[in-house]
Amino acid sequence: MTGFLGLAYLWVKAAHIIFVIFWMAGLFLLPRYLVHHQESLGTPEAEKWVHREALLRKMILTPSIGAVWLLGIALALNVGLFDGQPGLGWLHAKLAIVFALSGFQGWAVGYSKKLAAGLGSIAPRKLRMIGEVPALAVIAIVILAVVKPF
Ligand code: HEM
Repeated sequence: MTGFLGLAYLWVKAAHIIFVIFWMAGLFLLPRYLVHHQESLGTPEAEKWVHREALLRKMILTPSIGAVWLLGIALALNVGLFDGQPGLGWLHAKLAIVFALSGFQGWAVGYSKKLAAGLGSIAPRKLRMIGEVPALAVIAIVILAVVKPF
């Protein structure tokens, strides 16, 4: 299916990057919310964080992760990932990190549900540090996608 996108290729790539930006915005916000949510446990403010996290999930995270994956798979088909095209080591590495980042979202959503039940077990400093994971992943992913070093 190499090149099947034809003239649509640049439009699909633009859409991919637009949804990547939406997804990253959500992934940078959610861990911040978790820190504030955990700090507010036992106060009336906690309920507001439950609501904010649910909105972020429904309006930003879930639609944009789906769109990024769909458009990314279309681009991967277009560059010949499934046709055994050589020189795509960067894409394999990128996919491994994107898988891990998708898992990170699953973990963060799971932790928000734990907080909603009034349970928070991660030390505040550690929780803040965990919040830096998406930024580190983005640095690696963008270098792999743009520089294509291998
Ligand atoms: C969800 C799975 C993803 C897949 C399957 C995927 C796959 C791809 C493919 C095949 C390309 C086209 C490369 C080309 O035609 O030269 C591309 C472009 C790009 N992707 Fe992804 N991607 C995914 C997620 C992401 C994420 C999470 C980010 C950033 C955090 C990202 C950032 C980019 C950028 C910046 C480009 C443009 C590279 C360029 O043309 O210079 N992608 N992606």
